[in-house]
Amino acid sequence: MTNINKTIHNAVMVREVLTALHPHPGGHYLDATLGGATHSVEILKASNPDGKLLSLDVDPSALARGKNLQKEFAGRWMVTESNFRHIRDAATASKLIPFDGILFDLGFSSDQLADPSKGLSFQEDGPLDMRLGPKGNEDALTAEEIVNSWSKGDLIKCIKNFGEERFAFRIAEAIVTRRKKQKFKTTLDLASVIAESVPRQHKPGALHPATKTFQALRIAVNDELESLRVALNEAWDILAPCGAIAVISFHSLEDRIVKQTFKSFKDAEVSKKPILPSQTEINKNPRARSAKLRIACKQTSNNICPERTLLL
Ligand SMILES: C[S@@+](CC[C@H](N)C(=O)[O-])C[C@H]1O[C@@H](n2cnc3c(N)ncnc32)[C@H](O)[C@@H]1O
Repeated sequence: MTNINKTIHNAVMVREVLTALHPHPGGHYLDATLGGATHSVEILKASNPDGKLLSLDVDPSALARGKNLQKEFAGRWMVTESNFRHIRDAATASKLIPFDGILFDLGFSSDQLADPSKGLSFQEDGPLDMRLGPKGNEDALTAEEIVNSWSKGDLIKCIKNFGEERFAFRIAEAIVTRRKKQKFKTTLDLASVIAESVPRQHKPGALHPATKTFQALRIAVNDELESLRVALNEAWDILAPCGAIAVISFHSLEDRIVKQTFKSFKDAEVSKKPILPSQTEINKNPRARSAKLRIACKQTSNNICPERTLLL
């Protein structure tokens, strides 16, 4: 269960993010994905004594934890519940535009994975929810609605496009057959139907057979790819000259959007290849193994931003 006071999330590539954003006193920073707040706290420490930070998250539990840490950085740290899709509105309300550095550390945190009420894990039983944000909105899409009501064709598209799952057809078919007899309610129920639908000999070694389908459902429920596209473009507009956007992604769909969107920015200096975590970090934190960091730095015609060349 998520602990309101203490995160269990191990933030990835903290040193690399600090090198990319180069927080300094007096600077303005935006962490679009507060999560367990490790990156936020490190940005605040590195921009001591008067750097300012705005941190966003859709998840009220992340916000509550962040607020507990806020007093240590009184007057320097705003913590706001917002989807980063609305990054420009949140930034405008903070009065901190333009920002010298903006971070996106995508996906979900270990706190959220360990919270069965979110329904993100196929290893713990929970409702088929998968919303990263608050539960209040009755009309919001949930994974339960997708698996119980989407057509077979739409399920195939979702599982294939958002999960890159080669057995999308079989899985969708198994879901549709099963729901005719009994609707899906819980994560373990869905995970076992998926596992049974995938041919045994083709099961990929380390991955649970439901991994990709769960990823696809989570992406669809939270409209993650479109939110990312919108947010990156808005982030570029609120970035100061010589400012940098750093994005940590965890799968190829996200990484492709980051790469393409960065490419479309005018006057950007962009990391040519993604920066990967060190083997030491991966050994300590296996979740880091799929992380990729990309950086875009805003250049101006007479402005060279030397401190970032290290990573670009
Ligand atoms: C990988 S965690 C971030 C971890 C964080 N960097 C740290 O230091 O602990 C990702 C966080 O982003 C949040 N998130 C995901 N999508 C979001 C969105 N569209 N808007 C705002 N927050 C989002 C999740 O709720 C989660 O808390």
